[in-house]
Amino acid sequence: MASVTFDKATRLYPGGTKPAVDQLDIEIADGEFLVLVGPSGCGKSTSLRMLAGLEDVNGGAIRIGERDVTHLPPKDRDIAMVFQNYALYPHMSVADNMGFALKIAGVNKTDIRAKVEEAAKILDLTEYLDRKPKALSGGQRQRVAMGRAIVREPQVFLMDEPLSNLDAKLRVSTRTQIASLQRRLGITTVYVTHDQVEALTMGDRVAVLKDGLLQQVDTPRNMYDRPANLFVAGFIGSPAMNLVEVPITDGGVKFGNSVVRVSRDALAAAADRGDTTVTVGVRPEHFDVVEHGGGAGASLRKDDDSEAAGLAVSVNVVEELGADGYVYGSAKVGGDAHKDLVVRVGGRAIPEKGSVLHVVPRSDEMHVFSTSTGERLSDV
Ligand SMILES: Nc1ncnc2c1ncn2[C@@H]1O[C@H](COP(=O)(O)OP(=O)(O)OP(=O)(O)O)[C@@H](O)[C@H]1O
Ligand SMILES: [Mg+2]
Repeated sequence: MASVTFDKATRLYPGGTKPAVDQLDIEIADGEFLVLVGPSGCGKSTSLRMLAGLEDVNGGAIRIGERDVTHLPPKDRDIAMVFQNYALYPHMSVADNMGFALKIAGVNKTDIRAKVEEAAKILDLTEYLDRKPKALSGGQRQRVAMGRAIVREPQVFLMDEPLSNLDAKLRVSTRTQIASLQRRLGITTVYVTHDQVEALTMGDRVAVLKDGLLQQVDTPRNMYDRPANLFVAGFIGSPAMNLVEVPITDGGVKFGNSVVRVSRDALAAAADRGDTTVTVGVRPEHFDVVEHGGGAGASLRKDDDSEAAGLAVSVNVVEELGADGYVYGSAKVGGDAHKDLVVRVGGRAIPEKGSVLHVVPRSDEMHVFSTSTGERLSDV
């Protein structure tokens, strides 16, 4: 087992003008489960392949433990990789597939058998050891691919979208299995996915990439509670955070007809740059639904932190999920233009399509970003 360090690691593909991975800096602790996540083409696989030694590094360094592996061939790095398509040998039995790397390494037959049986027990594959891959389900094949990595007892596991061939239900159960297996084995793991739910549920920490540039590395909780910029704010969380550009006014921001108080420091930082607006972010679950009494524009909620009239959201679509539901509507938030909003409501309080819902964003849960640079200004 070992730590893994990306030290300003850069990959510029031949003929490219812009690096696919640009000065990537991440320190992964011994035994940690780190997830690389981001949209298609952001450089996840390239980063993983650089660590595996399958891709040249054009700048910076990669270390496994204290060892600089930047220019070592893959076989000398003591890593095992699980690919999206599993790449099992069709003509070999499950046991032979799992033991193949050990056979190549010259390990004797008895030891191979013992290691394969042990891994099969962990992965619940014992009864399938003599079958060929084609006689297995997708989930079982995925476990064979895991088994092949486990028997090598590497210092680092690398996984590139290993669940993408599984159906939705199996994906959920397998992700739990992989996460708990990794914790049990304690092997440092770098896991690539484009699915932010997978990233949040599996990772000790999550690294978000965009256009080859690292946006934020953090625990799932911090990533959700304190996204570092507008990109992360919009990418992490489902349904996505509502992001609305609003004018700065005295003491707060103008949200619909009302002034909502937000961090003074955040507004000062925006004003310092000469911005007259900020972009506020409100997660769907951070709106309070208020009774619409007392006529238009009435102040519907007053407390120490906020003073706001309910924002009128015209309900376009309602998604009922049982325990709760999501309302997709539109509202006049900043200026005259209508803005689409998503609001989470309780399962027993789902409004009718076509009705109007009055909501108030919780000021202590509002995120404030610079409209011009996208960076986070609030520190709540
Ligand atoms: N062999 C290559 N030669 C040139 N460019 C490449 C090569 N492989 C990848 N790229 C480019 O590098 C960028 C990053 O690709 P990469 O495969 O790392 O993305 P990814 O984040 O894994 O995406 P996905 O989620 O679609 O798998 C992309 O713009 C891609 O077109
Ligand atoms: Mg990829």
